[in-house]
Amino acid sequence: MNIDIIEESADVLPEYARMPISFVVRSIFDVQLVDGGLKGVKLLERPVDVPWTKDYDAFRDEGPARWRDRWDISNWGVISAFVRGSRAGGCAIAYDTPGVHKLEGRKDIAAIWDIRVAPRYRGNGIGGRLVDAAVAWAERRGCRMLNVETQNINVPACRFYAKHGFTLGAINRHAYSEFPDEVELIWCRKIADRAPIPHAGSASTSTPC
Ligand SMILES: CC(C)(COP(=O)(O)OP(=O)(O)OC[C@H]1O[C@@H](n2cnc3c(N)ncnc32)[C@H](O)[C@@H]1OP(=O)(O)O)[C@@H](O)C(=O)NCCC(=O)NCCS
Repeated sequence: MNIDIIEESADVLPEYARMPISFVVRSIFDVQLVDGGLKGVKLLERPVDVPWTKDYDAFRDEGPARWRDRWDISNWGVISAFVRGSRAGGCAIAYDTPGVHKLEGRKDIAAIWDIRVAPRYRGNGIGGRLVDAAVAWAERRGCRMLNVETQNINVPACRFYAKHGFTLGAINRHAYSEFPDEVELIWCRKIADRAPIPHAGSASTSTPC
């Protein structure tokens, strides 16, 4: 599949929002504490009895077209994927934004705020290309870490992040008062230290970033 990845301005968010983010929950990760956590934490995948649809955009009408009303998104990045001219996927990256707790007030962390691939295009490598572009975007801003939040009910996304170099950074079993059965999982991808830029006139042959 021929996939074009481009960075766009936040003006496209209403169009971006037309791609559904919803997915079907067929299994969940139960978070099991061994000896209250003293002897470890396990994620155990369990099929649900009746599959159901989760739609993040439906929660308090919080879809991408509304982000501008809630946050100063002037430092954010929007990366889009197109297949034969059709919008097929997108990723929004939050960076250096007051009030976004996930960024911890640091300039060396960026967060994937949203990533979605239109249902008919899922499973074709588009999400992976968006993650690669998000990592490069964060690296250009000097970030050392790219984080993303998901939940134990989004098993495909967990597997997707793990496949793309993220590891579990935090588990919060009590994060969502509105969804007490859901567990927050923060996945983190380290961004490699940049190679030192050689001084002018240096004989080094390494390539500066
Ligand atoms: C998660 C998402 C962005 C991944 O994008 P994608 O283009 O489908 O993923 P890719 O094709 O690049 O990568 C596929 C890999 O991701 C994982 N994956 C993606 N969808 C999966 C699914 N339904 N079941 C199991 N694994 C899945 C697998 O590891 C898969 O690897 P494989 O092809 O070797 O089996 C996309 O499926 C999506 O839009 N999901 C709904 C929205 C969502 O959950 N967003 C994340 C919110 S935190």
